[in-house]
Amino acid sequence: MKTANILLIGDGAIGSSYAFNLLTAGIGGSLGIIDVNAARVQGDVEDLVDALPYTGQKNIYAATYADAQYADLIVITAGVAQKPGETRLQLLQKNASIIKSITSQIMANHFDGIILVASNPVDVLTELVLQLTGLPKNHVLGSGTALDSARLRSEISRRYNVDARSVHGYIMGEHGDSEFPVWDYTTIGGQPIKQFVSGARAEQDREAIGERVKTAAYSIIEKKGATFYGIAASLTRLTAAIVNDERAAFAMSVHLDGEYGLSGVSIGVPVILGGDGLARILQLKLNPEDQKRLADSAQVLKDNLAAVL
Ligand code: LAC
Repeated sequence: MKTANILLIGDGAIGSSYAFNLLTAGIGGSLGIIDVNAARVQGDVEDLVDALPYTGQKNIYAATYADAQYADLIVITAGVAQKPGETRLQLLQKNASIIKSITSQIMANHFDGIILVASNPVDVLTELVLQLTGLPKNHVLGSGTALDSARLRSEISRRYNVDARSVHGYIMGEHGDSEFPVWDYTTIGGQPIKQFVSGARAEQDREAIGERVKTAAYSIIEKKGATFYGIAASLTRLTAAIVNDERAAFAMSVHLDGEYGLSGVSIGVPVILGGDGLARILQLKLNPEDQKRLADSAQVLKDNLAAVL
């Protein structure tokens, strides 16, 4: 699938950052872009094409929904964004109707590939896409807590002065206010973080790191109006794992069918991601507090989904 046809729906700050990142990273084959603002798409295509002599060849074009039939992967970033102080869940009504319109158009064009959703509230919208399209559950994925897990690793890296790539760990649950870090599975160079830093400071540090990760988007939105580089980098990484069949591990939003004792909800859990989408859900043995956090988070998502079905 190295020549995968990727269709990006939503060419706002996140979508265009993702397009640029895909191009510079040389991931996938063609890239079609769709947005309600057709002039913006045309401008972005012209601008991105200017970079081709430095990046290598790629077919970048202004797409229509008819192109969905040839797409291997559709990435959805369309929708309204959070305003300062607004939660992701508050976007639900507006973005659910945008998602309904998008899914009906791609399915009318016989789309039969993988969908990666980034629009917020991402977990609820991922489940909605799954239900509306009827695609198999391994083909409907949400970026979920991939970005939050990257933020967790960055935060630990900065605090303890270790390369973020040597830090592993997951944020699980909603990509939003009910998410939580899974400290029992957070390691630095393979060493559990609870051994790497112990004593009185350790718990305080964990509290502070968890809070910073959870509020990261609020802080960025307050200062620059929107988040885009972090989420674009996460989407690029997830795209690479799919189109290059990497079978790499990420936390992301997938539909649960009994895993973690939960069903009927898409929520951030660790998975193995490859060319056929979701290859496996990693069922971590959670301590009772984390299991409860996950169940509570799932309930928040289910209640919200019920409001738009
Ligand atoms: C963020 C947005 C993408 O967390 O929800 O940056």
